[in-house]
Amino acid sequence: MSHKKFARGVAIVGAGMSKFGAFPDMTSRDLFVEAFQELKASIDKGLNSNDIQAFYLGNFSSDQFEKQAHLAPIIASWVGLSPIPSLRIEDACASSGVALREAAISIASGLYDVVLVGGVEKMTDLPIAEVTDALATAADTQFEIPAGFTFPGFYAAMATAYMHKYNADPAAFAHVSIKNHANGALNEKAQFGQSIPEIMEKKKARAAQKGRPVPSWENEFEFLSDPKANPNIAWPMRLFDCSPVSDGAATVLLVSEELASKYTDKPVFIIGSGQGSDGALAERDSLTYIPAAVEAAKQAYDMAGIGPEEVDFAEVHDCFTIAEIMATEDLGFFKRGGGWKAAMDGRTSRNSQCPINISGGLKSKGHPVGASGVGQVIEVWKQLRGIAGERQLPANPRIGLTHNVGGSGQTCVVHIYERRR
Ligand code: COA
Repeated sequence: MSHKKFARGVAIVGAGMSKFGAFPDMTSRDLFVEAFQELKASIDKGLNSNDIQAFYLGNFSSDQFEKQAHLAPIIASWVGLSPIPSLRIEDACASSGVALREAAISIASGLYDVVLVGGVEKMTDLPIAEVTDALATAADTQFEIPAGFTFPGFYAAMATAYMHKYNADPAAFAHVSIKNHANGALNEKAQFGQSIPEIMEKKKARAAQKGRPVPSWENEFEFLSDPKANPNIAWPMRLFDCSPVSDGAATVLLVSEELASKYTDKPVFIIGSGQGSDGALAERDSLTYIPAAVEAAKQAYDMAGIGPEEVDFAEVHDCFTIAEIMATEDLGFFKRGGGWKAAMDGRTSRNSQCPINISGGLKSKGHPVGASGVGQVIEVWKQLRGIAGERQLPANPRIGLTHNVGGSGQTCVVHIYERRR
């Protein structure tokens, strides 16, 4: 199948996100307002909200998390956009990545010129067992959930299959976690915002303050091997292999290519878009890669007319550390079975040829599931415009990529972005 290009170009001209974390006093709409205000301030030549013609919102399950369905028109009203068409897109953790794609398609079709797209999730109001149950509704509730699976369990199954097939060292998972926490420590919006050595120091100080024995970890690997500090969640995925439960919102403004200069002289163009789908984990031939990601990546590379070697950096869906390793293979950055070694060798770090998750990724930045896809785009926007502060890539990156997965890989959406000046 040949994959066509968008019928006309689509550009990102503004971006904003709330801080990610746990915010007991805020609702989804409050979080989105925070993101929208930052978006407005980011538009170099200003935005008149009346220019916005449609609103696409990615949200997994405000109905379960907040007992509030029908969220898109409610949020549109709170940011002053009524009566424009406003719709919610649900594709599990890929909800806002898919919303971005649908919004871009709506502009490419010629129907709209200016579209707001965002994502939001408010997960922390529920106790953790209920959050886990709510997330599990994104899996196959007829076959998988009755067998006892939860999301950490799905990715643990993938991790054990991967370790078995490639004789992979589980220390690779720790390397991913250490890297993403180190990157997130430079991101003021990140939920954790601390490197693992900083977390270790905090825990030592807390123990000393409470008069408890002070742990003797000498380095991150000792800390991550300590079952008290880093317990198993679903072996081999331990606490520090999991993304957290999070609240947060993120939003970007898309416009047609012809209109971009009305808003900024530094637009970021979406040059590739792809989406794939799949059935439940049990239906797959292999657990060591995500076929929907391979399909989405192929479509996006075809549309962009580039290959993985031309991508300067990527934000990938590291809901669990094994997911990042598989993503770097599914996207073609490393050969099959080579991702774990690349992670261990530092070949995905910020100063490598293939920087992965410079924002801290979902692991450290946080994973408010419906917001995560557009949250990834925020990092691309910042890196391509040279405004990522302390974590800015030095080499003036030109091409960025986002990879956003729903469930255990039933949905994957990949986008490729370009800076032209
Ligand atoms: N990574 C590192 N530390 C974490 C963490 C994570 N993912 N989640 C919580 N913590 C820390 C907290 O900061 C807290 O530290 P402190 O004691 O120093 O203050 C401690 O662990 C306990 O936090 P708590 O909120 O009580 O954890 P929890 O047991 O309720 O939740 C998990 C931990 C792993 C179960 C939860 O984060 C989880 O379910 N993650 C996966 C989410 C998911 O499946 N998303 C969808 C992906 S497809």
